[in-house]
Amino acid sequence: MLRLPEDFIFGGATAAYQAEGATKKGGKGPVAWDEFLEKQGRFLADPASDFYHQYPQDIALCKKFGVNGLRLSIAWSRIFPDGTGEVNQEGVDFYHKVFAECEKEGVLPFVTLHHFDTPKRLFDQGDFLNRDTMDAFVSYAQFCFEEFTEVRYWSTFNEIYPVASNQYLLGVFPPGIRFNLGSTIQCLHNMMVAHARVINIFKDNKYPGEIGVVHSLEPKYPASDSEEDKHAAFLDDALSVRFLLDATYLGHYSDETMQALKEICEANDASYTFLDEDFTEMEKASHRNDYLGINHYQCHFVKAYDGESQVHHNGTGDKGTSVYKIKGIGERVYKEGVPRTDWDWIIYPEGMYDLLLRIQKEYPHYNKIYITENGMGYKDEFEDGIIMDKPRIDYLRVYLNELSKAISAGVNVKGYFLWSLMDVFSWSNGYNKRYGLFYVDFETQKRYPKESAYWYKLVSETKTII
Ligand code: NOJ
Repeated sequence: MLRLPEDFIFGGATAAYQAEGATKKGGKGPVAWDEFLEKQGRFLADPASDFYHQYPQDIALCKKFGVNGLRLSIAWSRIFPDGTGEVNQEGVDFYHKVFAECEKEGVLPFVTLHHFDTPKRLFDQGDFLNRDTMDAFVSYAQFCFEEFTEVRYWSTFNEIYPVASNQYLLGVFPPGIRFNLGSTIQCLHNMMVAHARVINIFKDNKYPGEIGVVHSLEPKYPASDSEEDKHAAFLDDALSVRFLLDATYLGHYSDETMQALKEICEANDASYTFLDEDFTEMEKASHRNDYLGINHYQCHFVKAYDGESQVHHNGTGDKGTSVYKIKGIGERVYKEGVPRTDWDWIIYPEGMYDLLLRIQKEYPHYNKIYITENGMGYKDEFEDGIIMDKPRIDYLRVYLNELSKAISAGVNVKGYFLWSLMDVFSWSNGYNKRYGLFYVDFETQKRYPKESAYWYKLVSETKTII
């Protein structure tokens, strides 16, 4: 059996909009999701897991089950209901109380500043396509550094690629735009510039603690040995993985990335603008990241594709319904013998190992890594308070094994945050896709530890992947 280091963080991950509920309480300002979900009429982010009121219970469960780190985000619009301007003291007080509870229970908070929830006024003005949002984000971040001096671990953004692609390429996040590669690339870049500006402010002001960014990194493999498939995988990977790593650690885009962008833009008649001043900030920040947070659940097999873009997002758990074919990039396909979840997420743990080794080799000054999300969406069965989620345990075990192997190969990974601590609201699936260690009855808000929670506790206590 493989082991993990003695000082390893065995964390649980959450996000404000998915856990807190109370979307209209405590002086919180609106976000684009409120209206988007109301219009869709499938589900809402209330009550979610009611973390707004249940946080003492959830943090106590962390302690009880060996979870010594809690990843959570601050809802920007709880602090600045309008995105800028007047501060909502009730929101500020709420997070101080949460951090105090963490301190009391010996659980280390890892705090993300933006987890898909730009305040609505700024969102409606173009979100991160509008440079005013970048300025507003930098001010909000600085406010948090000054105010929440009890926090030691900060992340600027959660998952820049899914923000850009779900908003402008796949249309599953508000504003629901499809196949706009120019906006996708512009959004990726602008968020990376905003990240860099925040890193530089944090370091120039010598705020205490550490800061990094959380990227969703899902490496792409060619579906076959053909040159065409290899090239499709290269393009898909360049846009969704290499772009972010280059921006974070080089402060510019490598020749490979620029070549891929050129090809993708030509095929889609797309364009973007990168300003010189952006690279000054990015280069300055590129050696100042204390850590990289990686959200990693799956990878993709890609084959060449010639036609128009077509996608179907499996947001229901109907296995086999996903379609992902993007003009000028490629088609994501399943691979014989490689298992996948009901939501068609490919279970390929070797992908995590490959990714970690790649970062070590290509970006050697990465400093240290936390796996900030990994876990399995599953339709848990609840039988009289008992939830036997063996497939989730199997998933976690194989991924943790690959992680342990990467550490043995010299990659500096200091912790792992299982998504999610308790069942939470899922952006495009609502409440039937569960990830939690703790089952939440969303009507009563009662928590029930799943079989996986007992398993994780043992792993945390023994540092052994059983
Ligand atoms: C990544 C996101 O950060 C989180 O919000 C989401 O719910 C999980 N992945 C699962 O899809």
